[in-house]
Amino acid sequence: MAARSEIDSQNIPAHVAVIMDGNGRWAKQKGGLRIFGHQNAITAVRETVEAAAEVGVRFLTLYAFSTENWARPAHEVMALMQLLVHTIRQETPTLLKNKVRLQAIGQIENLPASCQRELAEAIELTKAGDRMTLVLALSYSGRWDLTHAAQQLATDVAAGRLEPSAITEQTLAGYLSTKGIPDPELLIRTSGEQRISNFLLWQLAYTELYITDLLWPDFRREHFYDALRAYQQRERRFGKTSEQLTVS
Ligand code: IPE
Ligand code: IPE
Ligand code: MG
Repeated sequence: MAARSEIDSQNIPAHVAVIMDGNGRWAKQKGGLRIFGHQNAITAVRETVEAAAEVGVRFLTLYAFSTENWARPAHEVMALMQLLVHTIRQETPTLLKNKVRLQAIGQIENLPASCQRELAEAIELTKAGDRMTLVLALSYSGRWDLTHAAQQLATDVAAGRLEPSAITEQTLAGYLSTKGIPDPELLIRTSGEQRISNFLLWQLAYTELYITDLLWPDFRREHFYDALRAYQQRERRFGKTSEQLTVS
């Protein structure tokens, strides 16, 4: 496991996105119910948020609940929503202490009213946080994000506010829920699954992927450093050749 001193402080990704996966399998290994895994995921969230803020990551996006997750058994969905309310309330002091500002992306209006209230409160309370922005992806999916952007964009075109020929990649990016947030340089996924699961489809175009077999409840700050170290050893070519990168 990597120590913080092994991280190059000059090469910290501005935006790290995380697919926090494997809570159910973690619980099963322990002979518990799936919700036991979700309950034990909070330490991993706290350590990741603190470690990211400390090394200088500006944006951390955590995939907490996908659009597809609504199709899980009703009791699991309900337990996850209750846990969300509880966690936001419990963790807000930590966010304040670390000067972390909370933001949320996704179909927030589909969350239970208690979740929406708790979220809105925490977002308001932490709005002065200038060290890092923590973005919670809730009831989120990449295809929803793009579809919603297309709706807004079409509305503006129909109203004459936007010329179709003037639409650029930047225009489209400005309609996404991540408007104003740089694309993630690094995506971490736990539990070994090698897929995107409808996360930030547009934004992940050139993101470095880091997949670990570790289950999310076991993820600690040292594992976050491992991911950063792996990222720092990558050569990001963006379609160019290796030789071109060394020529200034
Ligand atoms: C991730 O863990 C948490 C959510 C998707 C809400 P899972 O609940 O997907 O755990 P596994 O993948 O079944 O082990
Ligand atoms: C992805 O995990 C969504 C979140 C971590 C919130 P899932 O467990 O839902 O992903 P799949 O269905 O295995 O791809
Ligand atoms: Mg899963």
